[in-house]
Amino acid sequence: MPRSLRGELLGWLLIPLAGLVAFNAWTTYRSAVATANLITDRTLLASARVIAEQVKDNDGRVEALIPPSALEMFASPDRDHVIYRVIAPSGELIAGFPDVAIPPRAPTDLQPVHFEARFRVEDIRAVAIAQPVVSKSAGGNALVVVATSLRGRDRLVTELWLRSLRDQTLLVGIAALLALFGLHRGLAPLLRLRSELLARDPGSLRPLAAENLQTELKPLIDALNHAFARIQTYITLQRRFVADASHQLRTPLAVLKTQATVGLRDTETAAKTEALAAIDGGLDAMARVVNQLLVLARAEPGGAAMRKEAVDFAGITRAALESRAMLAFDRRIDLSFEGDEAGLELQGHVTLLREMVANLVENALRYTPEGGAVSVRLTREPGEIHLSIEDNGPGIPEAERERVFERFYRLSSGTEGTGLGLAIVREIVAAHGGHITLSQRTPPPGLRADIVLPAS
Ligand SMILES: Nc1ncnc2c1ncn2[C@@H]1O[C@H](COP(=O)(O)OP(=O)(O)OP(=O)(O)O)[C@@H](O)[C@H]1O
Ligand SMILES: [Mg+2]
Repeated sequence: MPRSLRGELLGWLLIPLAGLVAFNAWTTYRSAVATANLITDRTLLASARVIAEQVKDNDGRVEALIPPSALEMFASPDRDHVIYRVIAPSGELIAGFPDVAIPPRAPTDLQPVHFEARFRVEDIRAVAIAQPVVSKSAGGNALVVVATSLRGRDRLVTELWLRSLRDQTLLVGIAALLALFGLHRGLAPLLRLRSELLARDPGSLRPLAAENLQTELKPLIDALNHAFARIQTYITLQRRFVADASHQLRTPLAVLKTQATVGLRDTETAAKTEALAAIDGGLDAMARVVNQLLVLARAEPGGAAMRKEAVDFAGITRAALESRAMLAFDRRIDLSFEGDEAGLELQGHVTLLREMVANLVENALRYTPEGGAVSVRLTREPGEIHLSIEDNGPGIPEAERERVFERFYRLSSGTEGTGLGLAIVREIVAAHGGHITLSQRTPPPGLRADIVLPAS
C-alpha cells in the first residue's frame, strides 16, 4: 500500500487533535451545565428568601403572602414555569401547589437544599429553605420550596457550550491550517528533490545538492550520492573493460585475418600448414588476452560477486605451481616450493588467489633466462601469511617497479604478453586486504615479489 509522508504526519497531528476536541466538548458541556445551574440556583434562592420573609404568624395562624417580585425574577423569553409550596411548621400547606416535590433531606438552619425533581410532565430544579416562625401557639420552621422548569437553564447551557465549542473548533481549525502550511513548507525541499530526480537525464549520476535540506535528510542525500559515485565507478570500469578488450583484440584479429587470407591464397600444402600454425599461435595469444581481461574484470572492486570463504592457501599455491610446471620444464628452470603446511588458511576467493600466484610464477619463469631458478616460499606470521617468489632473471629496475602494475605496461617487448598480469595481481591482493612489494633479489640479479595477506 503506498504511504504518503504528508498524510501520515497530518494523521498523527489531526487525529489526536480531533480526540482532544471531543474530550474538550464533553468537559465544556459539563462546565456549562454547572454554570447554568449556579445561575438558576441563585435566582431560586433569592426568590425563596423573598417568599420566606413573608411567612408570618398572624394571631396563631401562620400565613404566607407571595409577593409578585418573587416570581418576576424568573421572567424570561423561555416562559419557564415557576412553582412553589410553603408548609407551616405544623405541616399544613399554606401556599402553592401540594404536589411540588419535597427535598431529599430537610434544610437545616439557613442552609438551603438544592435538588432536581419532576413536576407533573416536566423536569424541575428546586430549592428548599427553612424559615423560623415565631408563634404564640407553636414555634418552629416553615418550609419554603421554589422550583422552576428547565427551559431557560437548558438554553443557557446550549449557549455557553456552543460558544466555547465554536471557539475551540476555530482554534483547532487554525492549528490544522498552520500545520498543513508548515508541513508543506517542511516537505518542500524533499518534493523539490523528487522533481529534480525525475527531471534529470536517466543516465546522469551527478551528485544531488544537499544545500537547503534539513539535517535529517542530509544523510539520505549523502548515501544516495555515495551510491551514485559507486555506480559511476562500476560504469567506468565496465567501459574501460570494453575499450581494453576491443583495443587488445583488434590487432590480433587483423593479423589472423591476414594469415588466413595468405593461407587460402597459397597453393602449396606446406605454406598452408605454416599459415594454419601461425593462426593457431595467434588464437592462443588471443585466448590469453581474453582470459587475462576477464580475470582482471572479476578482480576489480565490484567486478565479481566476491563471496569469500575459508581457503587453504598452501593448496592454492601448489595448484598454481602445478599449472605452470610445463613452462618450467620447457625452459629448464628449477622451480622450488617451500611452505609451512598447516595454518595457512585465509578468507578468500580460490580462483582469484590461484590466478594471483600463477601470474607471479609465470612472470618469474618467463623473464628468467633458460636454466635459471625460481623459488616460492610460504610462511606464516602472527595474523599474516607471507608469500615470496624469487627468480634470478634480469629483475625490474627500481624506477619501473611501480609502473609495471599499470595495465598494458610492459618492459620486455621481445616476449609475448598482454601487460595485464601484475595489474591483476595488484587487484586481487587489494581485494583480499593484503599488499605486494617488488624488490631486488639478494644476491642480485633477480626479482623478489613479496605478498602479505591477512590470515583467518
Ligand atoms: N619476474 C620478472 N622479472 C623481470 N621482469 C618482470 C618480471 N615480472 C614482470 N616483469 C616485467 O613487468 C612487465 C609487466 O608484467 P605483467 O605480468 O604485468 O605483464 P606481462 O607479463 O607482460 O603480460 P601478461 O602477464 O599479462 O601476459 C613485464 O612485461 C616484464 O617486463
Ligand atoms: Mg605476466
